[in-house]
Amino acid sequence: MRMILPMNRPVNRTYKLRGSRITKAQELAFDKNWEKYQVDLTKPLLINALFPKLQSTILEIGSGMGEATAEIAEQFPETGFVAVEMHKPGLGALLMEIEKRELQNLRMIQEDAQVILQEFIPENSIDAVHLFFPDPWPKLRHRKRRIVQSDFVELLASRLKNNGYVQIATDWKEYADWIQKVFAGCERFNGGVIERPNWRPISKFEGKGLRKGHQVTDLKFVKVK
Ligand SMILES: C[S@@+](CC[C@H](N)C(=O)[O-])C[C@H]1O[C@@H](n2cnc3c(N)ncnc32)[C@H](O)[C@@H]1O
Repeated sequence: MRMILPMNRPVNRTYKLRGSRITKAQELAFDKNWEKYQVDLTKPLLINALFPKLQSTILEIGSGMGEATAEIAEQFPETGFVAVEMHKPGLGALLMEIEKRELQNLRMIQEDAQVILQEFIPENSIDAVHLFFPDPWPKLRHRKRRIVQSDFVELLASRLKNNGYVQIATDWKEYADWIQKVFAGCERFNGGVIERPNWRPISKFEGKGLRKGHQVTDLKFVKVK
């Protein structure tokens, strides 16, 4: 069951409204396993209590079709992952991967990650945030819809534990520069461009960008204050 979220839903709609075209298999996976793997938002969300036996918890914002999410979760069974995504077919696809790979360390939320961070996640409580290929909103007039904005970066700083980090990848060079600039404006983070981590698989979205000749930039920012 999903909670009816409050009126203070953020005005910044950072995702694209897509059709809810869902395959039969994704729908079946939803019917079968959504209740089991969704995070219950009708109670206070104690994110670390979701995986009491695991060492740390990472929040992934915008898991898309979930193939990279599932692969990373499989590589790191000692870490708990919470995937936040608006798009139901993507969550259905991720449920299929969870079942196929028999993952025990993944839960999911269908909501706007900004709302989840603001309303449901306690301060100083998450170990890391993954933000892989956030919608780049390349047109000048749409840049205000980018999820990486000063307010959002401050929100991330408040929810991360000390020494927690945000790991980002984008295939839009100008967004990579933007991200660096916005984080540089927040004295609670240190970091910048890093080499591509060898554990980060190529998602379908990234693959499309690479085929178009896009340059992929990985970035990491550590909370220092
Ligand atoms: C370009 S896709 C990338 C998906 C995936 N990370 C990958 O690498 O293939 C960006 C995803 O972020 C999701 N998204 C954007 N804003 C979001 C938000 N505020 N909360 C949750 N998901 C969001 C979109 O629905 C979309 O699926």
